[in-house]
Amino acid sequence: MAEANRPRKPTIEDLDIAGRRVFIRVDFNVPIVDGTITDDTRIKASLPTIRHALKRKAIVILASHLGRPKGRRCQDLTLRPVAARLSELLDSPVTFAETAIGTPAQTAVADTKPGGVVLLENLRFHQEEEGNTPEFARALASLADIYVNDAFGAAHRAHASTEGIVRHLTEVGIGLLMASELDYLGQAFDDPERPFVAVIGGAKVSSKLDVIHNLLERADTLLIGGAMAYTFFKQQGLPVGRSLVENGLLDTARDIMARAKTRGIAFELPVDHVVTAEADGSSPYEVLAINDPAIADRLAVDIGPETVERYSKSLADASTVVWNGPMGVFETDAFAEGTTRIARAIAAVRGTTIIGGGDSVAAVTKAGVQDQISHISTGGGASLEFLSGRILPGVAALPDRPADPAV
Ligand code: 3PG
Repeated sequence: MAEANRPRKPTIEDLDIAGRRVFIRVDFNVPIVDGTITDDTRIKASLPTIRHALKRKAIVILASHLGRPKGRRCQDLTLRPVAARLSELLDSPVTFAETAIGTPAQTAVADTKPGGVVLLENLRFHQEEEGNTPEFARALASLADIYVNDAFGAAHRAHASTEGIVRHLTEVGIGLLMASELDYLGQAFDDPERPFVAVIGGAKVSSKLDVIHNLLERADTLLIGGAMAYTFFKQQGLPVGRSLVENGLLDTARDIMARAKTRGIAFELPVDHVVTAEADGSSPYEVLAINDPAIADRLAVDIGPETVERYSKSLADASTVVWNGPMGVFETDAFAEGTTRIARAIAAVRGTTIIGGGDSVAAVTKAGVQDQISHISTGGGASLEFLSGRILPGVAALPDRPADPAV
């Protein structure tokens, strides 16, 4: 269960950082095409923590991974363009250290005055980062006096910069982004305002199995969309055409539906869908009822309008909504309607709305409603792990804030 992520950790606001060297692990794993950052959301999401440290005249040392270079230096995955973008966003210089440890890193830090920022080169150019070796963790720790983890997106990784380093510094805590992520996600799981409606989509039941199991114990309603619904339909003997089915999970699908019934929670599947011969939008398509055998050898690519209506009604009454995974092949414009309308229905909810996972985040952006969502998680894999109820090693490694003295 995720409770180990819940106890309150000291935040950067609790730490005495003024004039001192603060190592902030951020998640600057952003898409870069030909040296240009195509989405800087994660950099922007780190700004409150960085600005807080700069206001207190700390020496800010930022460290991140980028991509999966597997311990090799490669130009495509240098963080140099991120240093330039960060400098624009902060409107102040950012020193780029050519390596994450050793002389270039040490010199860059030594030359930085309080109120200055250093960005270290990609941590994963060293295989010891993912190997979480004590030597590498110690080398990173030696650059700083204080450690702050603000990389929610990497908190599910037990790497040297997210886990090992905590053993080598005594003053440690989380950043403001991490605090906000844990607060929103944790609140939804531990003490949600009800009704709590979870919308789960995506291609495979297998990739969301733990999320579904966890939600079955916590939510009041589960709305299912995307290709994963077809494993449930096949289990029920409904026609699925060429839609993706995980045949090895038919029994699991039956058990999930039985568990929902035992718990008395609503487990809703689509009642109609859009079917076509090709998922790329090159073939004609039509809306059919779920039990209509006319799907024949075509496949389902989106939820239908009747399903959107039903799901929107459930969402309208919700006080807490968690959404992970699209309702169909939303990257093809012709099949984005269901996902986009669900994004709008979630945006209209008056309660707390939380979106996790890259595809759902892209969907709310595509629908233009991102500003109407309470919390959009910066973590893809990490939010999935959290929603599954798993402990995030990057959070669990940090000691809890001492309990308030009894009054
Ligand atoms: C992400 O993009 O989900 C995080 O940055 C983690 O990246 P990873 O899956 O390569 O560890």
